Amino acid sequence: MHTYHVNGVRLACEVQGDGRPILYVHGFPLSGRMWHPILPLMSDAGKLIVPDLRGFGASEATADAEMADYADDLAALLAALGEKRPAVVVGLSMGGYIAFEFHRRHRGSVAALVLADTRAEGDTAESAKARLESAEKVLKEGSRIVSDAMVEKLFAPAAAARTKEEWRTIMAEASPIGVAAALRAMSRRTDFRPLLADIRVPTQIVVGAADSITPVVGSRRMHEAIPGSRLEIIPDAGHMTPVEQPQAFARAVREFIGAL
Ligand code: MLT
Repeated sequence: MHTYHVNGVRLACEVQGDGRPILYVHGFPLSGRMWHPILPLMSDAGKLIVPDLRGFGASEATADAEMADYADDLAALLAALGEKRPAVVVGLSMGGYIAFEFHRRHRGSVAALVLADTRAEGDTAESAKARLESAEKVLKEGSRIVSDAMVEKLFAPAAAARTKEEWRTIMAEASPIGVAAALRAMSRRTDFRPLLADIRVPTQIVVGAADSITPVVGSRRMHEAIPGSRLEIIPDAGHMTPVEQPQAFARAVREFIGAL
């Protein structure tokens, strides 16, 4: 794990291997650690770039952020790594929202997209309001509020209690400032549905069959809207497909990258 000062913030990032850059963008309120189960399965697929987004893991938190900031942090990180080749951008859930923003703002840096357990639509007024209320609560009472509310929804019903407990603890340790900033940023994110038809890079959509946060139906709609996209539904997985079914997730991504 190295630290990079980019776009006015200190970001932690793991970098492994050589070849085509593959940028892994984690979900909320997680960290680059959520990709660990698949990294050994991807080690010969390219240069694996696994940051902690601002406010998560070992990266610095800022009191406020927009989705554009997370995307610009990643562009600045690629530049700091001396990376000039376009990257395969793999984003899960909030990481997918950031991948859309990254594609919109830094199109030349995207070779391909993997949209995992995510959605294109923005928040409804009701969900945006709930996020803003959660942000206030997290700042007062800590990130456990969010981890307790999310943990059961993250995994398929059959997931091991030990795995859920491990992730409940990891999420509860997330910085309240970083969590609140991301909640506010997500509440006002762009609805990318009108822009899906404009995605021209190869795109793979991956979703757990039992994902209850971003259900399969939303992935099917993205698949229909993004020209030439591929859709892979992973059995026996909820919202955390790389953690729940690392072999199947890595196989889908490897096949996709292999065909580029
Ligand atoms: C995530 O996994 O990143 C979150 O569930 C995204 C969200 O809350 O919309």
